[in-house]
Amino acid sequence: MAAAGSGAKAGHENWSSRSAFVLAAVGSAVGLGNMWRFPAEAGENGGGAFVLFYIFCVMLIGLPVLLSEVLIGRHGQSSAPESVRRVARDSNTSTGWSIIGSLGVFAAFLILSFYCVVGGWVLYYIGVFASDIVQTGITSGAFAGRDPGDIEGLLPSLFGDGGLMVGLNLGFLALTMFFVARGVSSGIEWVAVYLMPLFFALFLAITIYGSFTGNFSEAVAYLFTFDASKLTGEVMLAAVGQAFFSLSLGVAGMITYGSYANRDTNLGHTSGIIAGADTAVALIAGLAIFPIVFAAGLSASAGPGLMFQSLPISFQAMPFGSLIGFAFFVMVFFAALTSSVSLLEAPTAFVKDAIGMPRMVATLVVGLGAAILGVLSSLSFNEMAEFYPLNFIPLFAETNFFDTLDGVTAKLFMPIGAILTCIFVGWFADARLIDDENGLDGVLHQTWRALVRFVCPVVLTVILAYGLLS
Ligand code: PFF
Repeated sequence: MAAAGSGAKAGHENWSSRSAFVLAAVGSAVGLGNMWRFPAEAGENGGGAFVLFYIFCVMLIGLPVLLSEVLIGRHGQSSAPESVRRVARDSNTSTGWSIIGSLGVFAAFLILSFYCVVGGWVLYYIGVFASDIVQTGITSGAFAGRDPGDIEGLLPSLFGDGGLMVGLNLGFLALTMFFVARGVSSGIEWVAVYLMPLFFALFLAITIYGSFTGNFSEAVAYLFTFDASKLTGEVMLAAVGQAFFSLSLGVAGMITYGSYANRDTNLGHTSGIIAGADTAVALIAGLAIFPIVFAAGLSASAGPGLMFQSLPISFQAMPFGSLIGFAFFVMVFFAALTSSVSLLEAPTAFVKDAIGMPRMVATLVVGLGAAILGVLSSLSFNEMAEFYPLNFIPLFAETNFFDTLDGVTAKLFMPIGAILTCIFVGWFADARLIDDENGLDGVLHQTWRALVRFVCPVVLTVILAYGLLS
């Protein structure tokens, strides 16, 4: 294990290599956000306008914020709030900035709770396709002889079964806890190093298969035709929220992962790789899912149902459909697990460092909290469907517990966390400390600095205000 250099804190864990850090961070970024949330958001927000604005957000806002976060973590060598505090202390500025880390840890905990609910649905579909293979073999299409309405009905019938929803949710959470409890190198890194290459292999195979079977040109036109009239405040806020969600930003996850990075890792280049890989996976996921959906004559705006309802219907007409369906959901499961692990790690590292609990106990405490919120989210699809926790706020009116957590974190916590991070890194942190950590020179350095100081905070504040008020 490499030394963390002069800033290393005794007992703080490290990634065993730069590539382990890259895989773990890409593993955190690539997840349900890319495979499930991105196509759903793109479809619900009008396609091309959303997608192109999303790419703009990733490059001009997401990437600079990502570098700012991993940089804070690497300098701080601790959990997120303590890392921010340490950068503030070394910059002779107020340690009150550690609020960035505290808010982030709380938001990561909230996201973890509902992320594992969706992780549970993925487990369910793995089971559905596995049993289909057992019943009909691998060569036929999926769900031979069944009505498409039945296939579409699988998700609502899962939603209707509160007990099963809770069981699957807790099962996915328990798996996540297992790996986090094992620690940075033998748990978190292990999952990333073994599962991410498997994910990419399956992803490539399914995308190539989809591009031969589906309506590719219609999907390209849908995803990349820019119609400025569709770019409303709400669409822009949705795109920023999606960019942050997908890059795991604004919620302490990347600060925590950055804290395990070694001194010899170039954070500027590494951030570029993470953002590039994540965006490529989101766009390719769109190009894999929409052709199949269009070829089957289904609607692009099916929202959250796109991956869980439309896609399984389209597997019906495909040769080897049940096998493809099974492989697809296994792939999504790998991506989701490497992300949920990072969501649990941020609050666990905080509890472990701040309260001094052993990792195992800290994992259990955070996991238990996430289980309680997760049960409420699972029940918001059935027993508690009429419970709208923030009904009095127009943006969250008639929004159930699950959707409220999703909306509050992506539309409020993430942008606000990112705005504060930019102001802190751009204006208050010591410039020499930042220059020393960021690994960029010349024009790239100047550009990054200008984006963090001016462009990101201003654009984010405008979009946040516009999106909330419109
Ligand atoms: N980036 C993950 C995804 O796209 O599924 C979700 C996520 C993971 C968000 C970790 C935030 C985080 F800290």
